[in-house]
Amino acid sequence: MASSSFRPSVSDSEIGYGSASLQSHRRETRKPLEVESVPSPNSREVGGVSEEGGVYLTWENLWVTVSNGKGGSRSILQDLTGYARPGEVLAIMGPSGCGKSTLLDALAGRLEANQSGSILVNGRKQTLAYGTSAYVTQDDTLLTTLTVGEAVYYSAQLQLPDSMSKQEKKERADMTIKEMGLQDSINTRIGGWGVKGISGGQKRRVSICVEILTHPKLLFLDEPTSGLDSAASYYVMSRIVGPDFRHGRTIITSIHQPSSEVFALFDNLCLLSSGRTVYFGPARAANEFFSRNGFPCPTLQNPSDHFLKTINKDFEEDIEQGLGGKKPKEEVIDILITAYKSSGSWQQVQAQVTEICKQEGDQALQKSRDHASFVNQCLILTKRSYVNMSRDLGYYWMRLGVYIMVSFALGTIFYDLGFSNSSIQVRDS
Ligand SMILES: Nc1ncnc2c1ncn2[C@@H]1O[C@H](COP(=O)(O)OP(=O)(O)OP(=O)(O)O)[C@@H](O)[C@H]1O
Ligand SMILES: [Mg+2]
Repeated sequence: MASSSFRPSVSDSEIGYGSASLQSHRRETRKPLEVESVPSPNSREVGGVSEEGGVYLTWENLWVTVSNGKGGSRSILQDLTGYARPGEVLAIMGPSGCGKSTLLDALAGRLEANQSGSILVNGRKQTLAYGTSAYVTQDDTLLTTLTVGEAVYYSAQLQLPDSMSKQEKKERADMTIKEMGLQDSINTRIGGWGVKGISGGQKRRVSICVEILTHPKLLFLDEPTSGLDSAASYYVMSRIVGPDFRHGRTIITSIHQPSSEVFALFDNLCLLSSGRTVYFGPARAANEFFSRNGFPCPTLQNPSDHFLKTINKDFEEDIEQGLGGKKPKEEVIDILITAYKSSGSWQQVQAQVTEICKQEGDQALQKSRDHASFVNQCLILTKRSYVNMSRDLGYYWMRLGVYIMVSFALGTIFYDLGFSNSSIQVRDS
């Protein structure tokens, strides 16, 4: 799939916001509140069109509703529009409960809730093929009995193709473990309920290891830095979204409170509040957007902290008491949402989505066959399951004990009953 086919196929005048005309249009119509788009600091090519075989993801007018339990419904995501391009990192930020995980789930096609709007992959409606995307979930789902090395190595054996030798798979697993800074815990059990193992932050890194082993073209990360200190966060994020790894890959990550160094790694930022878009556009322009709309970031404050503080209305009463005279949070959020809808960033998002969707040609994702064969998968899973069961006291040994006791009890019920008439009656009773 040649990504070059994503070059604009229609003229600027047709789109209305193509590069040259978009600039002139903005110059003519930019209002005081509008944010001027700045070039992405990290993208390798304008528009990402040089990213061979990459995945372009767009979503338009995306709504997600769930039942509120009283016969009505509640909207978790409201009318979201955005895009993600190869070679770029999109960060989704917002207060807890604003809908970050829901958005990631919807984009990854994992959502079971009622949703409307269009989500297009390379400009067409299609499901993400096996091997194209990976999703690091917010909660770690790892086998607690395995060591870090075993978890990653088994995963490598399952996911990597048979054409790679065992040694190569092992080397890939070892390299990934090293890159995530887990070499010292390679022989430590993951652990879980009742059994202490590696720390929460290390578990996050193991989950990331398992997902990035295959170097997927589209990577969803839900809070990859939860439980990590600021230095580890930067190290892990710079590995995942750094220039070497991001090339040709589309990365969408939700994140809580990134440090300014981590924030600088992002190309685009999607700021949500109660499921609505407060800002979508270049991450570096977000500060200017807030300033222009009357909420400048105080000197020496981390901009991402400032954004989250400004749009978090969960603790409104406490904050208002402390900083009397401020506008109610709801009003602040409404001002920002209205400003965003009339900004150049919003127009650019629409233009980008239109541009990507209008592309024609064979943009279907190729189903990757590069994974272990069915037989190998069965063998590896059986082996892994055996290791898991043999180490899990409750799962295996206690069950074995119970089965032996039950067998013994059943087997001795009719022991030495004899063959007289009364014995026959005992057997029947
Ligand atoms: N299936 C569901 N039924 C009802 N409400 C739901 C459902 N799924 C999500 N929600 C609600 O939608 C909102 C968004 O949830 P989501 O998990 O996307 O938030 P989040 O931004 O990822 O939060 P966090 O940062 O804490 O992980 C929350 O208020 C949550 O309670
Ligand atoms: Mg979440």
